[in-house]
Amino acid sequence: MADLLKLGVLISGNGSNLQSIIDHIEKGSLKAIIKIVISNNPDANGTIRAKKHGIPVVILKHTDFKNKEDFDLELIKILKSNHVDLVILAGFMRILTPAFLKAFSHKIMNIHPALLPSFPGIHGQKQAVEYGVKISGCTVHFVDEGVDTGPIIIQSAVQVLDDDTEETLAARILKKEHMIYPQAIQLFADGKIEIKGRKVRIKAQE
Ligand code: GAR
Repeated sequence: MADLLKLGVLISGNGSNLQSIIDHIEKGSLKAIIKIVISNNPDANGTIRAKKHGIPVVILKHTDFKNKEDFDLELIKILKSNHVDLVILAGFMRILTPAFLKAFSHKIMNIHPALLPSFPGIHGQKQAVEYGVKISGCTVHFVDEGVDTGPIIIQSAVQVLDDDTEETLAARILKKEHMIYPQAIQLFADGKIEIKGRKVRIKAQE
């Protein structure tokens, strides 16, 4: 059997995407192993979720570091020492430095709660409700030097209802997030993702 894809998951909060990845791994629909979960927030609920499943957790408070470069160097050290193949940002609310991007070039995925390139940055769901779009959704993409600008792997659409609030829309989008993130990771594990410039092509079944 081929080696399992080794994941390092970075979180800052609730960790429901982390939970979905754990659940897919445990039921066998995602062939990967989470080597380490790193949180910059000591109170993140996601750390409890990880521990419940016996996954090693490191708390790395960014406020303990002189600057973001030093913080990222420590992140790189931990991920490399765990032989991580793919870095998963799952509600990780920090912008990564060029050194981090270089260390894991084309090996960092993020999930964003909007149909990029619409509504990047924070509060993607609130931006969608306030703008009045009829369709929003979520996007899994590779991370590049911009904010939510990297090559798109999978998107899933959600209808925006007239009476939606940020919270109701976020809840429906989150359900889709929990479906497409494990799918994108499995495509990577299967070697089916080809990046050409800013486009991702999913290779057909061999
Ligand atoms: C998710 O909705 C994710 O798309 C969003 O944070 C939430 C984390 O939820 N990420 C961003 O907004 C990144 N710009 P979770 O902690 O329950 O997975």
